[in-house]
Amino acid sequence: MLGTASESKKKIYRIIYGYWQSQCVYTATNLGIPNLLHYGPQTVEIIAEKTGTKAEKLYVVLRALAHLGIFVEKPGRVFAATELSELLITDDSPSIGHFLMHITEPDMWDGWRELESSLKTGEVPFELAKGKDFYSSFMTENPHSKYLFNNAMSFLTAEAVDPLFEVYDFSRFETVMDVGGNQGTLIANIVKRFGCKGILFDLPHEVETAPNNISKYGVLDSVKIVGGSALESLPKGADAITMKYFLSVFSREDSIKVLTNCREALPKDGRVILLQTLVPSLGAPVEYPDGTIPGLAAVQMMITNPGGYWRTEEEYKDLFAASGFQLEQVVHTGTSLTVMEFSPC
Ligand SMILES: C[S@@+](CC[C@H](N)C(=O)[O-])C[C@H]1O[C@@H](n2cnc3c(N)ncnc32)[C@H](O)[C@@H]1O
Repeated sequence: MLGTASESKKKIYRIIYGYWQSQCVYTATNLGIPNLLHYGPQTVEIIAEKTGTKAEKLYVVLRALAHLGIFVEKPGRVFAATELSELLITDDSPSIGHFLMHITEPDMWDGWRELESSLKTGEVPFELAKGKDFYSSFMTENPHSKYLFNNAMSFLTAEAVDPLFEVYDFSRFETVMDVGGNQGTLIANIVKRFGCKGILFDLPHEVETAPNNISKYGVLDSVKIVGGSALESLPKGADAITMKYFLSVFSREDSIKVLTNCREALPKDGRVILLQTLVPSLGAPVEYPDGTIPGLAAVQMMITNPGGYWRTEEEYKDLFAASGFQLEQVVHTGTSLTVMEFSPC
């Protein structure tokens, strides 16, 4: 197919193949094949038997994944693990495999199908496709999707904390509240590393399961857990509020509501610490060294989030200014995560 293709055509072909790749790797991961191959090479017949699939068809998918470097194919239709498939193991701790399955699961694809119509109507693609919102109704009604989402968030946070803590010191705060903190991985790490107290705030159905995760870090006694909506009000008691990939959930109007609630909850010398991947301004590199393309990720956010997406540094500054906050400092972590620290003005 590529015989006569120019470099430009090849690039387009690669983009087209993008979803074939992610669907093959989703299917194999969902069937638990990286988990199986971790214990040693297997013939396609054995893998098919263990996964309840048809060997002839499964072979076509596994061969494709071997061509992509996810598995290795050996003589006799035997497949073995690689460094890549080991990253996709999902029966141990939260991994990139959970992130992969969360992002590429069929319900997500349903949302993408509505992208074009959502551009015309302004509605949220996921809500158009499913008739319900992502964070409340869908999450409470779909425990497996919630399990994938929560593990994906915990994995991304666990990866981010070391580089973050190297450049940003939380020890000057007495109590840090992580708003939209999901299962509490970030706040547990802050409390453990810096010895401050913590508050975890998220939707009630999310915080219900957080104690289990926080206790793994041995800091459950130092973290107060509060369920609610940041659009309504936030508890007082913290001198700093962290928001990691949280403000990007909301439209401009709702972001201002959330930030106004932050102002009311914080003391005058309090801080809001935005932890976010920033979309580059025009002319800046479009891809981070870790492979994140924030402009593209912004579209994924727009698929599920009720009005939000990833923004540029200027856009965040503008949102905070409109909510009565001034920028104190911007700290780059050396990964795709940037810290923007704001104070009430
Ligand atoms: C993209 S996730 C980010 C999670 C976490 N901060 C992280 O970086 O891993 C957004 C989080 O916001 C929570 N959330 C959504 N709407 C909310 C609301 N109105 N009030 C509080 N939390 C909300 C979700 O439950 C979810 O945990």
